[in-house]
Amino acid sequence: MLVLSLQVFSFALVSIAQSQSFTDGMTLLSKGGTFELGFFSPGTSNKRYLGIWYKNIPIPTVVWVANRLNPINDSSGILTLNTTGNLVLSQNDTVVWSSTITTSVEKKPEYSPEALLLDSGNLVVRDKKNDNPEAYLWQSFDYPSDTFLPGMKFGWDLGSGLNRRLTAWKSPDDPSPGDLSWEMVLNNYPDAYMMKETHKFYRGGPWNGVRPSGSPQLQQNPLFEFEFVDNKDEVYFMYHLKNMSVISRQVLNQTINARQRFVWLESEQIWSLYASVPMDYCDNYGLCGAYGSCMISGSPVCQCLEGFRPKSPEAWNSMDWSRGCVRKKPLRCEEKHRDGFVKLSGLKVPDTEHTWIDERMNLKQCREKCLSNCSCMAYANSDIKGKGSGCALWFGDLIDIRQFAEGGQDLFVRMAASELEADGNRKKVVVLVASVVTISVAVVTGALTLGWCYMRKVGKNVKEELECSNKGDQNKENQVDDLDLPFFDLLSIAAATSNFSIKNKIGEGGFGPVGYMAPEYASDGLFSVKSDVFSFGVLLLEIISGKRSRGYYSPNHSHNLIGHAWKLWKEERPIELIDTSLQDSCFLSQILHCIHVGLLCVQQHPEDRPVMSCALLMLVSDIELPEAKQPGYFGNASMEVDSSSSKQELSTTNDITITLLEPR
Ligand SMILES: *[C@@H]1O[C@H](CO)[C@@H](O)[C@H](O)[C@H]1NC(C)=O
Ligand SMILES: *[C@@H]1O[C@H](CO)[C@@H](O)[C@H](O)[C@H]1NC(C)=O
Ligand SMILES: *[C@@H]1O[C@H](CO)[C@@H](O)[C@H](O)[C@H]1NC(C)=O
Ligand SMILES: *[C@@H]1O[C@H](CO)[C@@H](O)[C@H](O)[C@H]1NC(C)=O
Ligand SMILES: *[C@@H]1O[C@H](CO)[C@@H](O)[C@H](O)[C@H]1NC(C)=O
Ligand SMILES: *[C@@H]1O[C@H](CO)[C@@H](O)[C@H](O)[C@H]1NC(C)=O
Repeated sequence: MLVLSLQVFSFALVSIAQSQSFTDGMTLLSKGGTFELGFFSPGTSNKRYLGIWYKNIPIPTVVWVANRLNPINDSSGILTLNTTGNLVLSQNDTVVWSSTITTSVEKKPEYSPEALLLDSGNLVVRDKKNDNPEAYLWQSFDYPSDTFLPGMKFGWDLGSGLNRRLTAWKSPDDPSPGDLSWEMVLNNYPDAYMMKETHKFYRGGPWNGVRPSGSPQLQQNPLFEFEFVDNKDEVYFMYHLKNMSVISRQVLNQTINARQRFVWLESEQIWSLYASVPMDYCDNYGLCGAYGSCMISGSPVCQCLEGFRPKSPEAWNSMDWSRGCVRKKPLRCEEKHRDGFVKLSGLKVPDTEHTWIDERMNLKQCREKCLSNCSCMAYANSDIKGKGSGCALWFGDLIDIRQFAEGGQDLFVRMAASELEADGNRKKVVVLVASVVTISVAVVTGALTLGWCYMRKVGKNVKEELECSNKGDQNKENQVDDLDLPFFDLLSIAAATSNFSIKNKIGEGGFGPVGYMAPEYASDGLFSVKSDVFSFGVLLLEIISGKRSRGYYSPNHSHNLIGHAWKLWKEERPIELIDTSLQDSCFLSQILHCIHVGLLCVQQHPEDRPVMSCALLMLVSDIELPEAKQPGYFGNASMEVDSSSSKQELSTTNDITITLLEPR
């Protein structure tokens, strides 16, 4: 808070004309009376400064100071508008501060300058004869102190080289420029930095088309709207208040090393803190070193990026992360196709000091561009609006990355292909294990089911317990373990299969190689609880028909086994699906019931399929079953659900994995 000793009897002007003297004790008022210009003494200081403050706020709040470096030691300061149109502040004929108009006015004798204070807080010099009221010869908004006001440009005028940056006051008693500053830096991909002396202290992150990359919390809000302009003439950030009767400012404060936004609360007569950066510990510039990423909820907050390990594990473990991380596997850029990229999401992108951008490129072109240059370490869309556009490349070490819980963006980090493979294999093992478990469970339940189908004695009490339908209960879909199925850990499965030996391949008993993939998994890689249900349904149809889904071929049509079953079902000839050895069975109605359940399990949309527990209950009860909808992948034989024919990549998956786990 600033204590100002303002003159009690002030003489308020609305403009300063050429050669008029503006002395200590006078004030210049903005038209609407929002702001005031005059001489003041900050805090406990006796020195006099020319500055601008809010006229109607009882807590003295200075937003701009002219003679920050040269205070006046008494009340003899005089401000004049000289014949060249410059504002000149002097004491005893010594100039302590002056404006700097570059265009000479003397060449234009008809020129008639005046100085005005606008209601935005902008002190401007303009030519009264110029019809354009915004053609300023000079404006204080171009030379900010510590305060960023609505309508101010923060950044660069590329033509004149003018850089509008904020510098904090040294202390509440001393408005001279301190060592904390906030400025836009013209990296190829411009970034904003808070500097402590010459060290980067906090980085705002480049503008990503929606907001600065480091401020995911900056979004649509009722208070202000913001814009970023980056063209051949200018690069700047600006904000406007949505409601003209609201008062808000952003100020850089060296006492607390922060940039804070305040809003004036008229009812309480206080400046209320609205937002502040740095936001938290993770906002410390480069806290986690090169290739490290900071996550505020992490323990510790610093983690190496995927594919990297601490450069010095000792230092890292003692919470000194500054040495950062190094690659687990070196890049092999010189050899073709030896590198790839790993996609990281939810990030504040790295420091853009060494970057390159092209707003017209798409992500694919961006990747190619990065691959073609061995010092390119990462790429990303330069604009994340919609589906994303533009290309940004990072060269050299990646530093000052953080991971946000929400609102972060994607970054593709260069990685040795061998590292990507290792990583891919880990994922494939997980998928395989999931499949193995599924198949095991399916085989067990399949056998049980068959038993049920033959021996079912409908328990009316079971029926009453049923609340199942295939209405696609979303909650149930998320309950992975809502059924008492056995779970096997990797070791048990490895032991049971002699380390996934090909000899012990599941399916040798007659079901073919490893399950059945649900269509959404085969086409999009989406895996859910309902994918298991799909596999179960296929198995059920196989048991009933006595035919394998894999390699099923009918001379009459191009459908696979599911399609065949569906066709017969729709044509009300489901009996023809049943294995001849079962057709004469006295349990025909139960078998038809099982076909119905099987078809419900293989419906195209996962949300239509019952969850596993419901599928089982459907089998053992007399519950009225819903109409089955069209199954997934019944089309032609080439679109079989079988893994070996539908997706080559996925069939190699298993091979690779099995090889990987085999003892050498
Ligand atoms: C103010 O500063 C001027 C010039 O630096 C000096 O001559 C003068 O004595 C000072 N006056 C006071 C009251 O300190
Ligand atoms: C007006 O002030 C500016 C800035 O101090 C100075 O460069 C210029 O010479 C002055 N013009 C005249 C006519 O005194
Ligand atoms: C004003 O400046 C003159 C010459 O530089 C000096 O002699 C005089 O003492 C100063 N007066 C004040 C009040 O500072
Ligand atoms: C900086 O913040 C401190 C603590 O909120 C406050 O006391 C001080 O007045 C502020 N400094 C300036 C220059 O406003
Ligand atoms: C603008 O802000 C004032 C003061 O907070 C409030 O009374 C008024 O309703 C606001 N107007 C709109 C349109 O939001
Ligand atoms: C790779 O990019 C850097 C940075 O833009 C550039 O200096 C270097 O010449 C490029 N190298 C090649 C081989 O294009």
